Amino acid sequence: MLQPNPNLSDLVNDTAAGLADRLQVKANITAAAPGRVNLIGEHIDYCDGFVMPFAIDRYIVIAGRANGTRQARISSAISEEIVTLDLTQLQEVSEPKWTNYLRGVIRGFQDRGHQIPGFDAYILSSVPGGAGLSSSAALECATATFLEGLLDTVLDTKEKALLCQKAEHDFAHVPCGIMDQFASAFGKPNRLVLIDCQTGEPELVPFENPDFTVLISNTMVHHELSDGGYAIRRKHTEDGLAIIGKSSWRDVSTEDVESHWNSLGEPINRRACHVVGEISRTISAAAALAQNDFEALGPLMAASHDSLRNDFEVSCKELDILVEIARAIGRDGGVIGARMTGGGFGGSTVTLCESNKAAEIAAILSTEYQRATGITPQIFASRPSQGAHLVG
Ligand code: GLA
Repeated sequence: MLQPNPNLSDLVNDTAAGLADRLQVKANITAAAPGRVNLIGEHIDYCDGFVMPFAIDRYIVIAGRANGTRQARISSAISEEIVTLDLTQLQEVSEPKWTNYLRGVIRGFQDRGHQIPGFDAYILSSVPGGAGLSSSAALECATATFLEGLLDTVLDTKEKALLCQKAEHDFAHVPCGIMDQFASAFGKPNRLVLIDCQTGEPELVPFENPDFTVLISNTMVHHELSDGGYAIRRKHTEDGLAIIGKSSWRDVSTEDVESHWNSLGEPINRRACHVVGEISRTISAAAALAQNDFEALGPLMAASHDSLRNDFEVSCKELDILVEIARAIGRDGGVIGARMTGGGFGGSTVTLCESNKAAEIAAILSTEYQRATGITPQIFASRPSQGAHLVG
């Protein structure tokens, strides 16, 4: 069934209430940053490719206030504890784990010469965690935006996104590309964030047609492989590029992959196939959207999913089942296209569909997925939403 998105202003009020309750403080700085979904361009942000995510209508909110000390007292809805950070020290990786996203971002500000004043803060989220929707990028971008408010400064948006990406690399040890933090930082209502990952420049592409919407279906599974699997895929692409002998995947053609097929060897040759194909599909998708041709996205999304499943091997049974159900509903049932989204090994699918059939499609996805797996999925719709911002 289609789950409603919690209203951002309700979430903001609940965060302020949490702060008052847990830390007895009245908020005067509140930051919100969204998760993201990727329409197309998967596992190529670290290959100089193009990706086309957007900020979803699900947020992480941080509400707080300076406390006149050099300590941060932070709490969140996910645990009862109040964690204290000593801001006179450069932040390092520490426990509990969830604080590392904040520590990493604080460290980014410290490395830029900022003295962070003490503060109290409380965190609340409507971004499902572990669902491939970048709750970690949302937490990083919300923290960076909160610190901007606290320090009364504004970072260049690109610099802010890169600072957050570095926090993910150094403090969560995930060698991610730039997609998630860029989507959370640059997102705008009715706009996709088309990112040229070679130049690091985002372009806002209109997604205004109200006849189409995007369903996000969370499989509710997160396979163990995810931790090492991502880094191994990234390594495969780096090794592949070295064997082909080019300095960027943008200069690699299908013919280059074919002529190096044996020297690339298994499975790197198939990984290379995915990268080259996905870059070209994303360019085609952007060109189609520029013509307001939503229908063209269907086959491109289908080919993207098949390539991620067969050649890049980052899908899983549950993602394939959700995509198969959407395919069976088909164009007549209102589905334009469906594919896995994000890093994979579990997480969510993205289904582009007709807005007036979204509820019906969600009901079928939910019933059929439950029948096949015994798991109740979480399904919600989202149009492109506002990226990281200070509230009020
Ligand atoms: C994760 C990473 C991104 C990107 C996707 C796959 O979300 O954080 O940088 O590589 O996987 O497209």
